[in-house]
Amino acid sequence: MKFGHFDDARKEYVINTPKTPYPWINYLGNQGFFSLISNTAGGYSFYMDARLRRITRYRYNNVPLDMGGRYFYINDNGTVWNPGWSPVKTELDAYECRHGMGYTIITGKKNDLKAEVTFFVPQNYDGEVQQVVLTNEGSTAKDFSIFSLAEWCLWDAQDDCTNFQRNFSTGRVEILGSTIYHVTEYRDRRNHYAFYTVNDTIDGYDTDRDAFLGSIYNGFDNPETVKAGKASNSFADGWSPVASHYKKITLAPGETKTLIYILGYAENPQDKKFASTKPEGLLTREAWVLNREKADAMIEKYNTPEKVAAGLAELRATWDNLLSIFKVDTPDDKVNRMVNIWNQYQCMVTFNLSRSASYFESGIGRGMGFRDSNQDVLGFVHQIPDRARERIIDIASTQMPDGGCYHQYQPLTKKGNSDIGGDFSDDPLWMILSVAAYIKETGDWTILDEMVPYDNDESLAKPMLDHLDVSFYHIVNNLGPHGLPLAMRADWNDCINLSCFSDTPGESFQTYTNPKFKAEGGYSKIAESVFVAALFTYTGPAYVGILEHLGKTEEAAKAQAEIDKMKKNVMESAFDGEWFLRAYDANGEKMGSHECEEGKIFIEPQGFAVMSEIGKDVGADIKTLNSIDKYLNCEFGLVLNNPAFTKYYIQYGEISTYPGGYKENAGIFTHNNAWIICAEAYAGRGEKAFEYYSKIAPAFTEETSDIHKTEPYVYGQMIGGKDAQNFGQGKNSWLTGTAAWNMVAISQYILGVKPEFDGLRVDPSIPAAWDGFKASRQFRGDTYEIEIKNPDHVNKGVKSLTVDGQAVDGCIVPVAGDGKTHKVEVVLG
Ligand code: BGC
Ligand code: NOJ
Repeated sequence: MKFGHFDDARKEYVINTPKTPYPWINYLGNQGFFSLISNTAGGYSFYMDARLRRITRYRYNNVPLDMGGRYFYINDNGTVWNPGWSPVKTELDAYECRHGMGYTIITGKKNDLKAEVTFFVPQNYDGEVQQVVLTNEGSTAKDFSIFSLAEWCLWDAQDDCTNFQRNFSTGRVEILGSTIYHVTEYRDRRNHYAFYTVNDTIDGYDTDRDAFLGSIYNGFDNPETVKAGKASNSFADGWSPVASHYKKITLAPGETKTLIYILGYAENPQDKKFASTKPEGLLTREAWVLNREKADAMIEKYNTPEKVAAGLAELRATWDNLLSIFKVDTPDDKVNRMVNIWNQYQCMVTFNLSRSASYFESGIGRGMGFRDSNQDVLGFVHQIPDRARERIIDIASTQMPDGGCYHQYQPLTKKGNSDIGGDFSDDPLWMILSVAAYIKETGDWTILDEMVPYDNDESLAKPMLDHLDVSFYHIVNNLGPHGLPLAMRADWNDCINLSCFSDTPGESFQTYTNPKFKAEGGYSKIAESVFVAALFTYTGPAYVGILEHLGKTEEAAKAQAEIDKMKKNVMESAFDGEWFLRAYDANGEKMGSHECEEGKIFIEPQGFAVMSEIGKDVGADIKTLNSIDKYLNCEFGLVLNNPAFTKYYIQYGEISTYPGGYKENAGIFTHNNAWIICAEAYAGRGEKAFEYYSKIAPAFTEETSDIHKTEPYVYGQMIGGKDAQNFGQGKNSWLTGTAAWNMVAISQYILGVKPEFDGLRVDPSIPAAWDGFKASRQFRGDTYEIEIKNPDHVNKGVKSLTVDGQAVDGCIVPVAGDGKTHKVEVVLG
């Protein structure tokens, strides 16, 4: 069952009912100011950091779920309704929500009055513009009133939802004309404020939430002021400040009225916080006067429909440009829609926000993740390589001199987060991968010379190459009894905690260290991760390639020897006969072996082991892929492990705390499904690769939206696995490494257009039924118009490749570097 449809021409998903199985959201903003907006206009805004600069309030885990947002209420002769249906939930005569690239348009209609609201954050602008177009579609004149509503968060989102003894007394606002300013704590230690304005005169306002609602017993669905058709002109003094504009409107038949609201954020330098004169009409309880120059300039920028149209056009052009860098035309519309629009869009969002703020990540828990943000670069680097470069350097700056990494850092301070600390065994490797991806995309080798601090300490700065070096050797220098990497606190799977042995509720599986390992430096020197071994052998060659390019032959050979040794160690101690083991636990026992009672096979190490060709000579790759198909494959994707754990295994940690079929315990973790898709494509098995791809790609799950629940245009982290009662149900949508990895899987492995150090590889692995496909790829300043022909209906194998009619050996298109368009023709067979 569907709740809408894709409008590919406009790059939108069109939702046709407010009652989606879960709030279906979009993200507005690309640089500093961000908003989350659901299909009923729920959600919130923040500047840079969802925890430390929260602008509007949102209550997670609320009942009903999605309550709180930017709401417009209309009172049309006693009928009160919202264009997005919620919160009043009056049945509408028509409803539509269009989520597009950085904007959302919600249209509601009731009793011949139509309200179309466009929400967007313009490029390089710290505010959300909301354009409301009201049209009287009836044959008689209409008198009605419209109320806006935004509820301020007192900046620190964590404090805002816990520290009521203070916060109920600190709230501060000011009002000047049609603009309501939020200035809590501005007098003392803060230099930022927010404002909510409308480009017209108003007939009243409210700034105190309880006055707006009329009673502390009312919810947002029942505001007395709106019902009474009149604002109460409340001036907030502590409690919960809000911003609500009230306006009376009369529309003749066919007449339209446009109002532009702006929710903005501004910072003043310390010495310019205050204005010297008090504007006439300013309503304030303060002795000082806010310097509102920045807000004035921001308001001026979008105070007419023409300016709004120009802002929207600029946003659309930005996205059209970003999405023109890589475009495909395949026989499958759903593939086209994922690759050309939604997957790339989601990659930008994950790049911007890492795992911080979604409808499943509260924005107060985590900043940017070391492993997460490095992986996000993989799917995004072709879009804005400069920002990827900056990000890589920010991340690398938090690294420790020995190659260890802070697991997370705050986007506002860019400092490593010492509450979480480090010792996640996989972290350093992802940086090798992201730096390599950046160089392969851009050919910009100078990033390796960039001086990058360790532990954010400039005096410890070393060239980026040194960071790669310590990353690589951090693995080599931390091996266990079988010569495999130590598992430490966790690897990619945060929930395999082999040194935790936690028996006390509330201990964090990621940060708690069992005292028995304290003396050993915090984690077991026995527990080893086969996943990290396979990631090392997959990633290592990129490091070797970099050294070779730099003419460092000796270092390259030394690194290669370590990779070879690791492969040997894996084959000797970690191949289980039909697949690769997952780990050795702290007791030296195998995890993920046919000998185990539960959790006999895990997905994570398999894909990277296959792509590293570990044991390929003895058929380990195909055996492994077949085992995945046999034990992990199910209707909605590949589960993470099988059989699911049915008891708590103290030696394994968090993984065995989840009921079977959810999250890391046999859920369908779409992130590592992508690694298997890559591996199947790598092995030339285009049918399987495509089968797995189509099981999880959102455009394909659209048809089962009622089961899947979450947005059909973006990936979620997890789908309930075959052991779950809610098999097929999606969760944790938007902020997941799946976005980047599935972009890699479809574009570089299935469609096979893959940047390499020395050119653009074109080597697809597709369903045999395809006659071929076309792709257009901007690469290092040139454009390649690629046409793949598949006359023999094979899965993989480049029979011939020509560039502008000239035959090229192999499948790497050399870099032309002339800024022109080149025609690449590839015949498979
Ligand atoms: C979740 C993981 C997450 C980790 C760290 C765990 O509870 O299951 O998916 O990565 O917490 O926040
Ligand atoms: C989500 C985390 O953000 C990611 O870093 C981790 O790899 C996966 N969960 C698996 O545990």
